[in-house]
Amino acid sequence: TLTDVARTAVEGRCPVDHSAFTSPTGCPISPAAAAFDPFTGPYQVDPAASLRWSRDEEPVFYSPELGYWVVTRYEDVKAVFRDNLLFSPSIALEKITPTSDEANSVLAQYDYGMARTLVNEDEPAHMPRRRALMEPFTPAELVHHEEMVRRLTREYVDRFIDSGRADLVDEMLWEVPLTVALHFLGVPEEDMDTLREYSIAHTVNTWGRPAPDQQVAVAEAVGKFWQFAGTVLDKLRKDPSGHGWMPFGIRVQKEQPDVVTDSYLHSMMMAGIVAAHETTANASANALRLLLEHRDVWEEICADPSLIPNAVEECLRHSGSVAAWRRLVTDDTTIGGVDIPKGAKLLIVNSSANHDERHFDQADDFDIRRDNASDHLTFGYGSHQCMGKNLARMEIQIFLEELTRRLPHMRLVPDQEFTYLPNTSFRGPEHVWVHWDPTLNPERVYPAVLSERQAVKIGEPSKNTIARTMQVDALDRIADDIVLVTLRDASDRPLPKWSAGSHVDIDCGDVSRQYSLCGHPDDRTTLQIAVLHDPESRGGSRWIHTSVSVGDSVRMRGPRNHFKLDLDADRYVFVAGGIGITPVIAMADRVKAAGRDYEIHYAGRSRDSMAFLDRLARDHGGHVRLYPSDEDTRMDLTTMFTTPVEGSQIYSCGPERLLTALADATAHWPDDTLHVEHFSSTLEQLDPSEEHAFAVELKDSGITVPVAADQTVLQALRAANIDAQSDCEEGICGACEVPVLDGEVDHRDLVLTKSERAVGKTMMTCCSRACGDKLTLQL
Ligand code: HEM
Ligand code: FES
Repeated sequence: TLTDVARTAVEGRCPVDHSAFTSPTGCPISPAAAAFDPFTGPYQVDPAASLRWSRDEEPVFYSPELGYWVVTRYEDVKAVFRDNLLFSPSIALEKITPTSDEANSVLAQYDYGMARTLVNEDEPAHMPRRRALMEPFTPAELVHHEEMVRRLTREYVDRFIDSGRADLVDEMLWEVPLTVALHFLGVPEEDMDTLREYSIAHTVNTWGRPAPDQQVAVAEAVGKFWQFAGTVLDKLRKDPSGHGWMPFGIRVQKEQPDVVTDSYLHSMMMAGIVAAHETTANASANALRLLLEHRDVWEEICADPSLIPNAVEECLRHSGSVAAWRRLVTDDTTIGGVDIPKGAKLLIVNSSANHDERHFDQADDFDIRRDNASDHLTFGYGSHQCMGKNLARMEIQIFLEELTRRLPHMRLVPDQEFTYLPNTSFRGPEHVWVHWDPTLNPERVYPAVLSERQAVKIGEPSKNTIARTMQVDALDRIADDIVLVTLRDASDRPLPKWSAGSHVDIDCGDVSRQYSLCGHPDDRTTLQIAVLHDPESRGGSRWIHTSVSVGDSVRMRGPRNHFKLDLDADRYVFVAGGIGITPVIAMADRVKAAGRDYEIHYAGRSRDSMAFLDRLARDHGGHVRLYPSDEDTRMDLTTMFTTPVEGSQIYSCGPERLLTALADATAHWPDDTLHVEHFSSTLEQLDPSEEHAFAVELKDSGITVPVAADQTVLQALRAANIDAQSDCEEGICGACEVPVLDGEVDHRDLVLTKSERAVGKTMMTCCSRACGDKLTLQL
């Protein structure tokens, strides 16, 4: 078992004969599986990298060394988290090093009675308790803690800012999360120092490997911690009116004494501190190490703190503080195609899942603009997913915000060796030494730095906040009133890949505008957009035409694609009106490269006003028909689309009246033939008097969330602490799509096609609702 192995490993000999293994199911064990040892070697250096072989070759394997089955791919790890009945969390906190008899008798003297809390509690006890105790973790409640976290962070930074050198872990990242945890729990100020002392003694010793004689000292510390937690709890019981999770729990106990028991409250007081403290301290230390090792990224977030929320998410994905978690298999089953017997123990390696190329592009890269970073499994998933995730996110954001603003010039002390306490699950460097020149501290020359701040983003970051600064490389007039803008990354970083139909959002003075990309997708150094100077426009296009010069910086978000090209069709018809040619030309390039049959119909006022005529003639000669209206060549859509053609796809971009006429002209074509780009939503403002309230049952999380008549599903999910992606939040991008397992959806988005709606297997949570009173979602 894991404990035997730990013990033998401590004694310095390998407990296993590595020849000719078979697993408990009788299958042979590969040499790599036989050699897997999470306590030493490569797993300790980099757990995700050490298991790459497994993700590629043997994603579920039996480790004779551990006596555990090890699960390493994203989908499999998530599937295990998803089912807390088949995969019981009861072994999640099983001790790594067993306590000696002597230590046990010390614990007994203190009436030590740590019971299961939440994280390792089975159903049916767990969910009612989790539901009853969730409220203090929801965004609406967490806002009240922001001030406290910021104040503590500043106090700690004040202590070392003038010294020029600090161990960020010892001088800040270890203690602040502990003190935040005590505040969050609602511990009275006067008891904090004592609890902090006990807690530190406890955690430092738990994950170390105390020798038998040290174990007695550990047991003393644990016993005192336990007893003192009880004393504080009794004090809180006398007046449970205060803020904080414990007073809240005491109040809930009065209503639901069977759900929140005495033993539970006492255990939770102690376990809560540990859950909130070490995980967050380690995650912050990992984040700082990672960011300072990627100096260019550090400098980017110093220059643009709006990148911090997503950077936090990417740090949690790339170097999370919980590397692996445990589950017990309660019935014979299969995982990733491998038979697993009832009673098997699983090590589900979330750090490996977080580096799985099958889910994350270039998974080993550290990319703070990754748009699915928050899919990471560092907080687990489903009905036991970390309740404190949004408090942790808030803390790390504030640490980064304060440190980037006050110590942008700090650097890692070179050549330091980062050490980690050897264990399977909790991971963070014991020290992170940094140094800087205090005479260069920004606040010395510019004290106003101290009063700056950025509002914390509570919850998972939204995709539409991920910005980059671009430089205008060229401005070319390519038609009357149309300028082709070439942009490059201001720091010459390679640009993300994009696909035909993608657009970017550009901040134009006070407004943000969307422009389709029309350059070459393979070009990773520049992006091109074509901008029409519309005399009606009061914002974006006029700003670009009148206020932007070569060499200027602009802020851009994206690229994102709301207008995806399906490459499976036999034949394509592109219909463009005016400036609508921009996405169409990129699509035509793509279709041509794929060797498909296509035609382009392009209407405009006059040839002089139509962009890309040379490029169209050069690259798409025989496929293009032009309809300049001043030459009396009108596009006759009714005639063009009289007879439906099997296997065709029609893509169109242009003025609203062209799109409407096209929809009418192709109404008798097969469903899902016509694709148009929507830059603005047709979504009406939510009118509560017209709507009805309903409920969404979340299958994976095991809860039912009410959606009020004046709320979107997305808002209701977030208020209930469920991570849910979004981008446009007006039904046009598809980022908020979730699988629907049951119930009829009232679709209101512009993303799903008619047949996708009819099948009803997914919905956009930012706008669509339930027809009836309930929907069941896979969340
Ligand atoms: C559960 C990680 C911070 C409270 C968990 C689980 C993980 C985790 C992996 C088990 C999830 C599962 O079984 O699906 C982390 C990480 C943190 C963090 C990486 C910091 C970066 C916090 C904080 C608090 C907290 C700050 C409290 C204020 C809890 C609780 C549970 C839990 C109460 C049990 C939930 C349940 O079983 O229903 N955490 N945690 N965590 N965490 Fe966290
Ligand atoms: Fe864009 Fe919902 S967030 S469709």
